Amino acid sequence: MPEQGREQWTSRLGFILAAMGSAVGLGNVWRFSYVTGENGGAAFLLIYLICILLIGIPIIMAEFTIGRKAQSDAVGSFEKLAPGKPWKVAGIMGVAAAFMILSFYGVIAGWISYYFVNYLTGNLWTMPAEGYDGFFVNFITNTWHPLIWQFIFMVLTIGIVFVGVKKGIERANKILMPLLGILLIVLSIYSLTLGGASEGLAFLFTPDWSALADPKIYIAALGQAFFSLSLGMGALITYGGYLSQKENLPGAAYSVAGLDTLFAIISGIMIFPAVFAFGIAPDSGPGLVFMIMPDVFDSIGFGGGIFGLAFFFLLAAAALTSAVSLLEVAVAYFIRKFSWTRQKGVLIIGGIIFLIGIPSSLGQGVLSNISIIGDRDILDSFDFIASNIFLPLGGLIIALFMGWGWKKADALRDSDYGDSAIGQLWLFLLRYLAPIAIFLIFLSSIGFFSTGVE
Ligand code: TRP
Repeated sequence: MPEQGREQWTSRLGFILAAMGSAVGLGNVWRFSYVTGENGGAAFLLIYLICILLIGIPIIMAEFTIGRKAQSDAVGSFEKLAPGKPWKVAGIMGVAAAFMILSFYGVIAGWISYYFVNYLTGNLWTMPAEGYDGFFVNFITNTWHPLIWQFIFMVLTIGIVFVGVKKGIERANKILMPLLGILLIVLSIYSLTLGGASEGLAFLFTPDWSALADPKIYIAALGQAFFSLSLGMGALITYGGYLSQKENLPGAAYSVAGLDTLFAIISGIMIFPAVFAFGIAPDSGPGLVFMIMPDVFDSIGFGGGIFGLAFFFLLAAAALTSAVSLLEVAVAYFIRKFSWTRQKGVLIIGGIIFLIGIPSSLGQGVLSNISIIGDRDILDSFDFIASNIFLPLGGLIIALFMGWGWKKADALRDSDYGDSAIGQLWLFLLRYLAPIAIFLIFLSSIGFFSTGVE
C-alpha cells in the first residue's frame, strides 16, 4: 500500500525517463571526462565498464526492487521491509550523501549555467583576451560570481521539487535529453576532424595496462560508476517508491545503465580528440570540459557559438534533472520523518544544501589553500568522500540486504526476474561478487595491497 497521499508516476515511461534523467547529468560529461583523463584513459574505462556491468546493474535492480516493494523513501523503505534491523544505515548514509553531492553539484552546475549565459550574450563566441582557460580561472576564483550562479541553479532545482514529482520531473527529460544526445554525437563527429583523433581515441580505447598497477584507479572507477548511475544512496529506491507494481524492472534497469554509459562514452569521444588537438593535458582536473569545449566551438568559426549555447543549455538541463533527484532523496525523507509539507521541506533542505555548497565554491579562490583529504580542495574532498566512500558503501549494504536479507524466492519474484537463470546470476552477483569486489577495492584504495616498492 502506498503511503497516504504519495504520488505515482503517470506512466511507465515517466519512471524510466525520470531514472534516466537522474542518471544522465554532469557525471557523464564533466566528471567522466576529467576522472578518465586523470586516471590514464582506456584502462580506467575498462574497469569502469566492468564495475557497471557486475556491480552497478545488479544494485540498480536491488534499489528498484526495494523501492517498489516498500513504496517509501531511502530510509523508510528499510524500516518498512526490515523493521528494527540495522539495514537502514544505508538509507541514512544515502541521505547524508545526497546533501554532500548536491552541495558541490550545485557549484559545478552553476558554472555550467554561467557559461550558458555567456554564450547567450555572445561573450564567449570569440576568445577573451585572457584566453578561454584564463576566463575560466578568473571566474571560479572570483568570490561572488560563482556563488550567484550556484544560487540561481539551486533555486531552479528547489522550484522543480517544490512543484512535486509528477508535474516537475517527468517533463523536461522527454525532449531535452534526446537533444543532448544528438548534440553530443554531432560534436564528437566534429571533434574527430580536429587533428587529435588518433591520439584521443587511443587514449580512450587502447589501454595502457601499466595503469592497472595504480590502486587508485579502481576506487575512482567504482566511484564514477556509482555517481554516474545515481547509485548507492537510495535515489533509485526513492524513485522506485513512486512506481506501481506493474512494471518490468530488469528492462528499466538495463535501459538506464545502457543509456547512461552511452552518454559517457560519446562525451569521451567528443572531448579527448579535442584535448589532444588543442594540446591540453588530459589530467587537467575538474576544469577540463570548461577549458576544452570553448576551444572546440571557437574552431567551428561562424555559428560555433550556437553550438556552445546549445551545449551548455542542454547540459544545464541534464544537471537540473539530476539535481532534482538528489534533492528529492533528502526531501522525501525529511517530509515523512517530520511530517512537513513538501513545500516546507524543499525550502529548508534546499536552502541548507546551498549553504553547505558555499565552501566548495570558495575553495576555488579565497579558500583554495584549504584541503581536507590529501591535496584535494574542498569541492574535491566532498566529492571524494561522497562518491568514492559513501556511495560504494551504501551500495554494498544494499547488495547485502537484497542478497541475504530477503528470501530468495521473494527477491526473484519482487524483482520480476522470476525463476530465470539471469535472476540466479543477479542474486549471485549481489550475494558474493559485488560485496567482495567493493570490499577489495576499499582495501586497495587505502594501500592494503601496496608492496611499498613504489
Ligand atoms: N548521476 C548524476 C550525474 O551523473 C548525479 C546524481 C543524481 C547522483 N542523483 C544521484 C549521483 C544520486 C549519486 C547519487 O550527473
